[in-house]
Amino acid sequence: VAPLNVGIAGLGTVGADVVRLIETQGRALAERSGRGIRVVAVTARSKAKKRGLDLRGIAWAKSPEALAEDPNIDCFVELMGGAGDPALSAIETALKAGKSVVTANKALIAKHGLRLATAAEKHGGALNFEAAVGAAIPVIKTLREGLAGTSVNRVYGILNGTCNYILTRMEQEGLSFEECLKDAQRLGYAEANPSFDVDGHDTAQKLAILASLAFGTKVAESAVYVEGISSITPEDLKAAAELGYRVKLLGVAVRTAKGIEQRVHPTMVPKSSPIAQVMGVTNAVAIDGEGIPPITLVGPGAGGGATASAVVADIADVARGIRAKPFGRPVERLRDTAKAPMERH
Ligand code: NDP
Ligand code: HSE
Repeated sequence: VAPLNVGIAGLGTVGADVVRLIETQGRALAERSGRGIRVVAVTARSKAKKRGLDLRGIAWAKSPEALAEDPNIDCFVELMGGAGDPALSAIETALKAGKSVVTANKALIAKHGLRLATAAEKHGGALNFEAAVGAAIPVIKTLREGLAGTSVNRVYGILNGTCNYILTRMEQEGLSFEECLKDAQRLGYAEANPSFDVDGHDTAQKLAILASLAFGTKVAESAVYVEGISSITPEDLKAAAELGYRVKLLGVAVRTAKGIEQRVHPTMVPKSSPIAQVMGVTNAVAIDGEGIPPITLVGPGAGGGATASAVVADIADVARGIRAKPFGRPVERLRDTAKAPMERH
């Protein structure tokens, strides 16, 4: 069988680790997929930048669009970020050419997921975005395939590694918000624009994706009530601790009589609760399904290696010929039941 030819747009924290992982895991991946996987072309903003990667033998495409159009590519991997172009147009170009696409871009999937899923269904390629939520935690597959036979009533958790890292260090070390954010950026956890993390939008985008998969609704970030953590001080955390609580930025999507309620805000959780034990860059997603005990998935929620692990798993699915419906069912079956943004209560 001919190997799967992969093109990667974006060689930053995640993209560089994807190139490394495919290199180091090549043989194991081929055994599991029944087909070799090789990176044949890449692109980024700067060709000259030192990245610690051996790119000999790999073509450099002049733009993301050129890479998406490249007839040598079977699978286009988008790791640039951003909810618009060039990510959007390049992914659309790749899908329209019948290629499969893998992305870690939750901002784009939350905004244009339906449009892209429609193109994927029409042209027959896969649109895989496991890394977009919870990095290495296989939560998309869990909701889409593993729980396909269960009616989900609630999905909630800690969905942003940067915020949980900041809250943990502020509480444990008394450091300022700014110091902790700088470290999260240095470690490659934060978004290119970290206000997406600390203002809660990254969590809202991830929650909107999870809600769509859990409840069969159209993905809609605008339906999520959002409040972030930027005004929280070490003193707030100390006061909460004295009362026996810890502050966590939670995303919660729940089925109600009026529709699906989706909200993101800092929440006081009892120190003894399982969610309060989730510290640092770790994420946790809890799923309450009808007739089954709650399921909780916990794992690394950000960082190059953790995210690359999910991206490469998605690429391996493409190599195996798996073409899942991106949101678990045909796009025309997704219902429009998400509530409009709501006031906190
Ligand atoms: P980085 O900022 O580290 O890397 C972005 C890469 O994209 C860089 O190589 C950059 O080029 C390239 N790039 C940006 N704009 C363009 C453009 N217009 N044309 C060509 N190349 C471009 O981001 P991350 O690796 O951290 O994130 C990538 C994606 O993964 C994002 O969607 C992010 O939300 C998502 N993600 C990130 C996680 C993390 O922990 N970092 C976890 C889960 C998802 P150059 O290097 O030349 O500047
Ligand atoms: N900036 C994101 C976070 C990356 O901190 O969770 C993982 O999606």
